[in-house]
Amino acid sequence: MNPPDSGFLDLYSYELWTIFSLLLSVVAVSLSAALIWRSRRAQSAAAPVNTDPVLDQARKLLHEFEKNSRSVDDVLINWSPETLRQVLKTELPDAQVIVVSNREPYIHNLVDGEVKLLVPASGLVSALEPVTRACSGTWIAHGGGSADHLTVDDKDRIQVPPDRPAYTLRRVWLSEEEQQGYYYGFANDGLWPLCHIAFTRPIFRASDFEMYEAVNQKFADIVVEEAQNERPIVLIQDYHFALLPRMIRQRLPDAIIITFWHIPWPNSEVFSICPWREKVLDGLLGSSIVGFHIQFHCNNFTESVDRFLESRIEREDASISYHGETTLVHAYPISIEWPPTSLENLPPVSECRREVLQRFGLAPETRLCIGVERMDYTKGIVDRFMAFEELFRTHPEWIGRVVFLQIAAPSRGTLPAYRQLHEDCLRYVEEFNERYARGDYRPIILLDEHHTQEDICRIYRAADICVVSSLHDGMNLVAKEFVAARDDEQGVLVLSTFAGASRELLEAIVVNPYDPTAVGEALLHGLTMSADEQRERMRRMREMVRGNNVYRWAGSMLVDAARLRKRNELNEVTSQPPSSGQADNVISLLDRTRGAAR
Ligand code: G6P
Repeated sequence: MNPPDSGFLDLYSYELWTIFSLLLSVVAVSLSAALIWRSRRAQSAAAPVNTDPVLDQARKLLHEFEKNSRSVDDVLINWSPETLRQVLKTELPDAQVIVVSNREPYIHNLVDGEVKLLVPASGLVSALEPVTRACSGTWIAHGGGSADHLTVDDKDRIQVPPDRPAYTLRRVWLSEEEQQGYYYGFANDGLWPLCHIAFTRPIFRASDFEMYEAVNQKFADIVVEEAQNERPIVLIQDYHFALLPRMIRQRLPDAIIITFWHIPWPNSEVFSICPWREKVLDGLLGSSIVGFHIQFHCNNFTESVDRFLESRIEREDASISYHGETTLVHAYPISIEWPPTSLENLPPVSECRREVLQRFGLAPETRLCIGVERMDYTKGIVDRFMAFEELFRTHPEWIGRVVFLQIAAPSRGTLPAYRQLHEDCLRYVEEFNERYARGDYRPIILLDEHHTQEDICRIYRAADICVVSSLHDGMNLVAKEFVAARDDEQGVLVLSTFAGASRELLEAIVVNPYDPTAVGEALLHGLTMSADEQRERMRRMREMVRGNNVYRWAGSMLVDAARLRKRNELNEVTSQPPSSGQADNVISLLDRTRGAAR
């Protein structure tokens, strides 16, 4: 169980962790004695140190130290913006954090001659934003808004969030042609369907890949430009940048590069259809760490590397050695900030419910199912409507009493697969509503437009059931946002077994989205669930999201990156033939290890 939120406990946990680190530093001191003694002996014997059993032993001990402290961190730290800042300060002192993503966190658009701010519908953005705020970093992203040029300074930078600036957004300009090849083409017509099992065929064009490469290079140049020293921490986000880690590694060999792949990774047989599979893998292995949401995707990635690249895979360490460099492949389940800022100024649940029902002209006793996503074929939107119809078919007494409110934010609308989905959805809803209309009653309300996060939170709070029936999804943060929004401990989550979130939110009603009968039954179960059962399930899910919040996601990656850096430094020192400076190097390295624990 997680301790309750409190500043005292945050510090207390951090203290415990620090004490543990200090204890481990004693191990490091003993190691240093062994290393120095052995290095002096090695100097006099003039034997190469890298075959030395004592040093091998030292490496093994350090390895154990890393493994043990990883699990202790997970148990003891109550992650918050403060602990994240502490980790950066102690584990990676003076490090500059640079985030790279395609989608920017704040978009400025010109609407009727006025500049309007839009926060995009992207799980990635909602997760990364609080982390970047906590690190006061620099976020590099494509400036895609029609007024983005108007709002930056002469270095293409703007301080955000606009109402309380906490970090720098550096905008990157892309031509129509670049966007077409890199974003719509290779990323969204190729890699997106390749990585999701949604039975939409990937399309690969050589011209798209060339543009993808060129745009990755453009971002690499800007990362180098923004880096204030040789050792920044670069957090690369998602499938838009598979080649970027290698490009940065070539220019900044000492950078810590953490690449997080926010979507699933397919099995190696599916991955093999990508014509540039080796280049994609080689690019990603420029990273210090490649992260996925769940272990299953890590395994698929490692299998793909095993099959297509000459490399050494250490399954026990979850590491891949390739061209003399090591990349860790770890699962870090992404999450949301806790407590969520979007909830700060919201009225109580009962008021949100009254307001939302009124807004859509619904009677106060109406039961409300909701869905919140981008209009994307991986989300199973039509499939959930089919399940809703199953409910009506098997339990017609619910017709007239329950409404499905579906938010489907416009997304990637110029791609044929998305246009088709949009049309299918509109048609399905129209026919469905005709079939089940009773007076003013229309069972599905489809809102195919953008909504603010605050508005979405009101809708979460108004709902009886939130349906997340993705056909395939890396994590799916809507599921976690819904749980976070329900401080009344009521509401039911119906969750696809093919969304990463189903590995953590065990008290949801977990369904196979391809089975409308089963999802229909889950809807019935949700509609008839007692308040006590809802409370019991919601309480546990809230505990989980509170403990495994987004600061823990980012913090665990940074802690792993710091360890990797120390391990590499130790390896570098101990693999050199003995020299008079070696003892000093070892001492200084171990001093730094101890310093990090302080
Ligand atoms: C998914 C991807 C993100 C992306 C988001 C929205 O969550 O993993 O990288 O930002 O969808 O899609 P868009 O194409 O609008 O950025």
